[in-house]
Amino acid sequence: MKQRNRFLKKYPYYDSSLPIEQRIDLLLMRLTLKEKFKLLSGRVFSWWKSSSIYRLKIPSLNMSDGPHGISFHSSFRLMTKFPCSKCLSASWNPHLASNVGAAIAEEAKAIGKQLLLAPGMNIDRTPLNGRTFEYFSEDPFLTKEFAVAYVKGVQSRGVGATIKHFIANNQETNRFTVNVQVDVRTLHEIYLRAFRDVVREADPLVVMGSYNKVNGIYACENKELLQETLFNLWGFKGFVVSDWYATKFLKRPEQAIQAGLSLEMPKAIVYTLKRLKKAFKEGLFSREELDAVVRRFLRVLFRVGLFDEKPRKSFRVKVNSPVHQELAQHVAEEGMVLLKNEGNFLPLNINHIKSVGIFGPFSSKKMGKFLYGGSAAVVPPFEISPKKGIINKVKEHVKIVKKPAEADCCLVFVGISHAKGGDCENFDRPGLSLPKQQNDLILEVVEQNPQTVVVLINGSPITMEPWLEKVPAVLEAWHPGMMGGNAIANVLFGVVNPSGKLPITFPKRLEDSPAHTSPRSYPGSDSVFYEEGIYVGYRHFDKKSIAPLFPFGFGLSYSKFSYKDLLLSSSEIAGSQELDVVVEVTNDSPVAGAEIVQLYVKDDEASIDRPVKELRGFKKVFLNPYETATVNMTLGSSDLEFFDAENFTWRTEPGSFTIFVGPSSRVLPLEGKFEFR
Ligand code: BGC
Repeated sequence: MKQRNRFLKKYPYYDSSLPIEQRIDLLLMRLTLKEKFKLLSGRVFSWWKSSSIYRLKIPSLNMSDGPHGISFHSSFRLMTKFPCSKCLSASWNPHLASNVGAAIAEEAKAIGKQLLLAPGMNIDRTPLNGRTFEYFSEDPFLTKEFAVAYVKGVQSRGVGATIKHFIANNQETNRFTVNVQVDVRTLHEIYLRAFRDVVREADPLVVMGSYNKVNGIYACENKELLQETLFNLWGFKGFVVSDWYATKFLKRPEQAIQAGLSLEMPKAIVYTLKRLKKAFKEGLFSREELDAVVRRFLRVLFRVGLFDEKPRKSFRVKVNSPVHQELAQHVAEEGMVLLKNEGNFLPLNINHIKSVGIFGPFSSKKMGKFLYGGSAAVVPPFEISPKKGIINKVKEHVKIVKKPAEADCCLVFVGISHAKGGDCENFDRPGLSLPKQQNDLILEVVEQNPQTVVVLINGSPITMEPWLEKVPAVLEAWHPGMMGGNAIANVLFGVVNPSGKLPITFPKRLEDSPAHTSPRSYPGSDSVFYEEGIYVGYRHFDKKSIAPLFPFGFGLSYSKFSYKDLLLSSSEIAGSQELDVVVEVTNDSPVAGAEIVQLYVKDDEASIDRPVKELRGFKKVFLNPYETATVNMTLGSSDLEFFDAENFTWRTEPGSFTIFVGPSSRVLPLEGKFEFR
């Protein structure tokens, strides 16, 4: 007791009975100017840690890359490799994002990390973006639902989440310098909206500033975006960290401080002691401004327990626990999207099929390698490849044959690797099609055996023109994580009924895609111009009446579902009133399965141009054979609003709105109308 008192006398901010803000005050007043400067950048030669201060017992904040698991490059450990974020969001089951976030945080905690550098939540503007596989969707609402769940899951385990990359980091080409020219409405309505909602609904501890410029100013020193929007408008309480080396081109420390950048990673470039001292001496920033960014940083240290008197016990979970591996498999199973299934070719019947041919470069390709694909890479202790998964499943019943013609059924595994030009950070893809050898391989196999299923291993849209009409079935398996092979086998053989739907449009041709109207709009050079405005993803395909290859929200099932009886709780709402939307969904088949019911809203009479429709609700429902479920969704006035750039505010205009409900963005059998007053 005496010892404790002595300790707390010296380090009173370690007293966890005091409110956090008071503890920060106690610490701030003890810090010298030089110590404050030191806290603003990463620890020398560490790459993943913030600076520590021995004198005051301020420990380092220890970070790790995500979002698909704890990366090898930030931990030197083999960890659970979860399916990629696109697979996660294709499940349309945010509950899974919360479980994945919690599981990754448990693994982070078990190895002494307090901050996860995930989730990535940029909007898919172009399908060529090399990091598409790391992001959730082209739609802000779907993105928000997943990011909120993910962040809550991570933080439920006492680990901080970092939402990234703030903001308009929508391409990898010239990512370090490109100047994104985007209008205010588009910025708020499309690119910022999900970040805003996550800040408000999930209270993430950290926001990562992106490399690029936004309307002429680098994101990490952009006062309008950080100070004015993130802090003042949205009430963000955590701190902003730079993306790694995103400060390379910043010249003035005062500008970054005044914008609100608390931590420069991985080391001091703009926040060197020399630069900071000089700027402070010249009066370019004030002590209050400095304290404000340091306070934000310290707040997070307190919140993750770094000043707890007794360090919080790490969860008694082993990394790579069977529970986490099972979760990884479950996500892969729920995220897979059945794109084509002519004549109910799938599922394969293990009792009827005597021989299977397994082909394609992705049938046994190792996907979890050191930095393979960039910072989202995770190296698992083992990987169940598709081939291994199929063999595990069928070994006693089915012979694996080498020649397509000798097989009852052929499975071709093709996709996009994590090498440069594939699903990979720092580069965009050169085009939408698969490598020619892969297209040729499919054609060759299907020529010898029309009973051929194509299974796709990728994290971003591809075109399928050469072979789509020739094969009876196509399964989008994404990058399915360390247990992917088992998940794929379960779906192909009907142990699991596929229930994923596309969180991103698959265009027929690149030119159909919104960002690809001119070299100015993509890839740009010094600047890239977001000329399509708010018409990103399905909003663009709808507006221009372009038929995509596969639309947003599309996915098949082994069950058949029907929709009826759309009911609205009222014919009008006003102010903060909510509208209940109720619909009956039936499984008309003898196979249990899950359907994703989607709700879109259209503003019938608006003073400005608005999308044909926007996703504003969805529910995934599990239905037994011939079962009917009543599905409830709710709409409020915020679901009807647009960003009024002239008055710099969100606004809902009175008038009539149409509601559409159905199984995909392009099949919406039910319609209803209501008035907003
Ligand atoms: C990526 C971030 C990542 C960081 C640390 C950057 O290149 O853009 O997403 O968290 O590196 O690895």
